[in-house]
Amino acid sequence: MPASDPWWQHTVVYQIYPRSFADADGDGIGDLVGVIAKLDYLAELGVETLWLSPFYASPQADFGYDISDYRAVAPEYGDMDACDRLIAEAHRRGLRVVLDLVLNHTSDQHPWFIESRSSRDNPKRDWYVWRDGARPGGGVPPNNWFNMIGSRGWHYDRATDQWYWSQFLPFQPDLNYRNPEVRAEMLATIRFWMAKGADGFRLDIVNALFEDAEFRDNPFAWKLLPSAEDPGMLFRGTENTLNHPDTLAFMRELRRVVDDFAGGDRFMVGEVIATADEARAFCGDAGDGLHLIFLFESLGVPLTAPAVRALIERYETLFAAPLLPTWVFGNHDRRRRIARLDGSLEKAKLNAAWQLTARGVPFLYNGEEIGIEQHHLPVRTSLDAVVDRFRSWPQPLFDLVCRLAGESLNRDECRTPMQWSDEPNAGFCPRGVAPWLPVTPSYRERNVATQQLDPDSLWHCYRRFLAARRQCAALNAGALELLPASDLPATVVGYVRRAAPGAEPRAVIVLLNCGDAATDVNLPARATPWVSTRARLPEVGADRVRLRPWEGLVLTLGETGVPDLR
Ligand code: GLC
Repeated sequence: MPASDPWWQHTVVYQIYPRSFADADGDGIGDLVGVIAKLDYLAELGVETLWLSPFYASPQADFGYDISDYRAVAPEYGDMDACDRLIAEAHRRGLRVVLDLVLNHTSDQHPWFIESRSSRDNPKRDWYVWRDGARPGGGVPPNNWFNMIGSRGWHYDRATDQWYWSQFLPFQPDLNYRNPEVRAEMLATIRFWMAKGADGFRLDIVNALFEDAEFRDNPFAWKLLPSAEDPGMLFRGTENTLNHPDTLAFMRELRRVVDDFAGGDRFMVGEVIATADEARAFCGDAGDGLHLIFLFESLGVPLTAPAVRALIERYETLFAAPLLPTWVFGNHDRRRRIARLDGSLEKAKLNAAWQLTARGVPFLYNGEEIGIEQHHLPVRTSLDAVVDRFRSWPQPLFDLVCRLAGESLNRDECRTPMQWSDEPNAGFCPRGVAPWLPVTPSYRERNVATQQLDPDSLWHCYRRFLAARRQCAALNAGALELLPASDLPATVVGYVRRAAPGAEPRAVIVLLNCGDAATDVNLPARATPWVSTRARLPEVGADRVRLRPWEGLVLTLGETGVPDLR
């Protein structure tokens, strides 16, 4: 049975992209032993849960999101012993571990698919989605379905004269969730990793599991370009390929498996490429679906008071308690948030203050805490999967689409190595070794060691806000109440976070100055500055405080004074 006050509702998740985090064996590729070596760092920073992108056996055509064995570790990342140690060492430090599960598809090199494609009557044939073409001979696919990234999702297999369906890239064939053996196998995989100590799962493109059972065409839609939340494009909808009712029903089955496991305290967060309204359905009606859903509307939201306030309001409405929103500003697929903040460390601090004080579960992406930049890299056609698939489009058209959608052409650009120090290779891998991707040129200033020495750095800002959030129930569990815009200067967003009785401090007020001028704010009640994006707290008068440019500030409300930050 699940606990009444589960840990995951209060947590802060930090995403580790293992390939780029820390290279312990000196081959230029990050690995699990490298992660183990950085656990003290993560505990010191103050994050509470680690989500590891896939490290399972894989040909790495999509860097681990193409799995060839769900229960084995890829040799470049280590072995099962390293994985067991990582989980145990994380737990010893009070850190939770969330694994990435790619349920929707396997690699085309997975033995299941190799068998499946070998003949029409192979026992594994029905483990994948095979279909006759509209005409024999491979000329015309079964129907008009596009994959999630806007090209044809059907791929012809000459040997058996049928097409297989793939929601992502051609080498990632979709598993057939209408086959009970597939469902049973994947649920067993989840139990396998829970038995190993996984505290939760991040479910990759989980809204793509089931397709229309009758393979009907997707209908026309008034939509030319895709967006971060809606992959419909080129005037074609996704009704029959995404968010299918059978996928929603399967979320409830997943939930039962996770809740029934010893202690019932594991959780799941779904990657659902959909609008926030559609995504909410994945949480089920009565808390019987996924625990959390990634919300992506935050990725590109401007850091202005009206936009920040509107998004908070929207999430508060859509994900009112007992649901919880998530706050996501980056991951291994999306343009780094700092690139949307003019590269400014001050704006990045304010963004962090917002992310760590709003109601919901924050997901940080490795390197955000030191402001690693989007690295403008030439397109690496052989390595970057997104680029591979887009090569079927004329390049100038593709550039234009990316620019209009505000996205980056090349996912390599947000996956560059973590910057640990100002040593060559930023301390990611030994001097003289070529890292799998080049470190960003600003690593000499934007690295962990340098920023740890400066109390006014972005790193220390994260650390302060993480500490405040951890020890303050109002921040990690309290209700959120926006202050009326009419009571605040035009550039300021303000909200009160209030905990249940008994917590101390019972309530805090958060003020975010989204502007480059200092501004005075009248305080609604007696309040004491507690944590700021700046190392030095601002002066406060009897009933007003002066916020500095791009300052984010938490004040405790009432007479009790401020707690020490631990
Ligand atoms: C998700 C992952 C991405 C991967 C894709 C296919 O969007 O985040 O990296 O390429 O799914 O598995």
